Amino acid sequence: MVCCVVTTVVAAVVVLILTVKFIYRYQSGRCTSKTRLVGKTAIVTGASAGIGKETARDLAQRGARVILACRNVEKAERIAEDIKKTTGNTDVVVRQVDTSDLTSVRKFAEDILRTETSLHILVNNAGMSGMKKRKLTADGLEVTMATNHFGHFLLTNMLLGLLKASAPSRVVTVSSGVHQFGSSLDVDDLNYEKNPFPKKMVIYSQSKLANILFTKELSEKLRGTDVTANSVHPGVVYTEIMWKNETNLFTYIFAMLVRIMGKDEKLGAQTSIYLAVSEEVNNVTGKYYADCKVGMNSV
Ligand SMILES: NC(=O)c1ccc[n+]([C@@H]2O[C@H](COP(=O)([O-])OP(=O)(O)OC[C@H]3O[C@@H](n4cnc5c(N)ncnc54)[C@H](OP(=O)(O)O)[C@@H]3O)[C@@H](O)[C@H]2O)c1
Ligand SMILES: *[C@@H]1O[C@H](CO)[C@@H](O)[C@H](O)[C@H]1NC(C)=O
Ligand SMILES: *[C@@H]1O[C@H](CO)[C@@H](O)[C@H](O)[C@H]1NC(C)=O
Repeated sequence: MVCCVVTTVVAAVVVLILTVKFIYRYQSGRCTSKTRLVGKTAIVTGASAGIGKETARDLAQRGARVILACRNVEKAERIAEDIKKTTGNTDVVVRQVDTSDLTSVRKFAEDILRTETSLHILVNNAGMSGMKKRKLTADGLEVTMATNHFGHFLLTNMLLGLLKASAPSRVVTVSSGVHQFGSSLDVDDLNYEKNPFPKKMVIYSQSKLANILFTKELSEKLRGTDVTANSVHPGVVYTEIMWKNETNLFTYIFAMLVRIMGKDEKLGAQTSIYLAVSEEVNNVTGKYYADCKVGMNSV
């Protein structure tokens, strides 16, 4: 009797999990654009793993010159080789950048401005989950905000001239749906000097909210140019991010659930790809997208 109850419960849980997984993946947005990118240049930050890797692969598949902007060159070179092999596009290169380090970002951007003649797509994708304690970078910036927001803010601004000169061009910044848990962000205290340092989840959410606010302001500044700026919620995607930077029991359980029910990396890259290539969003700017559609956001 007891064994039958247990079996039934286990079966019900398995069916529930499989149903959620099926529905979530089925309704997930997919980029169906046939746009080719031969003659175009794209930069993807954090292309050595996860969503960035699959975004870079898709852009390479379309014929673009793709620059993998990564902190770990060895790891990124392995991904570049794999992308070349799977797409047949040999114009895939690695350039070193640590988005948490402003000196590194400046050096990277200067190198791009010196060596590249055009830039049509910039995908600000690199990111890390939140830290438990306020930890500062060499520049004296809180590390989560530096990695996810400040580095991309500087990078985008330094590359803006090249993006404008190459227009039509696009800036895509990978935010997250959890930005809505970051609404206590004090925009006058982005470095947490006045306010107490928030919880791990909240600091991450606030850095993702900063991505959206930056995108909106950037799109305003770019009015009248043919450069668009939009932000993305990729969905709940099983990637390495779940296992990096101060994991705990909660993040471990969360990661296991995402592994079973979440999107894979290819599905997670769809909205970034859509905003980077689709003709449907030629004139769209300042928007936040999820599943290849304008999404809800709290700002
Ligand atoms: N996975 C999700 O469910 C989810 C949901 C919402 C939003 N996002 C966002 O999606 C983006 C991509 O994340 P992911 O899930 O694909 O995670 P991931 O697999 O860990 O990939 C993150 C990428 O960013 C790079 N990176 C991290 N810190 C960096 C730094 N200081 N300088 C340069 N590169 C750095 C990583 O480099 P290494 O390979 O060297 O570690 C890696 O290439 C992030 O912005 C994340 O916030 C993810
Ligand atoms: C985050 O984790 C990555 C990978 O484990 C590591 O290289 C990086 O130094 C960590 N960053 C911080 C700020 O702890
Ligand atoms: C975008 O705008 C241009 C002119 O500003 C117009 O010709 C074109 O049809 C628009 N494209 C879309 C997809 O709305």
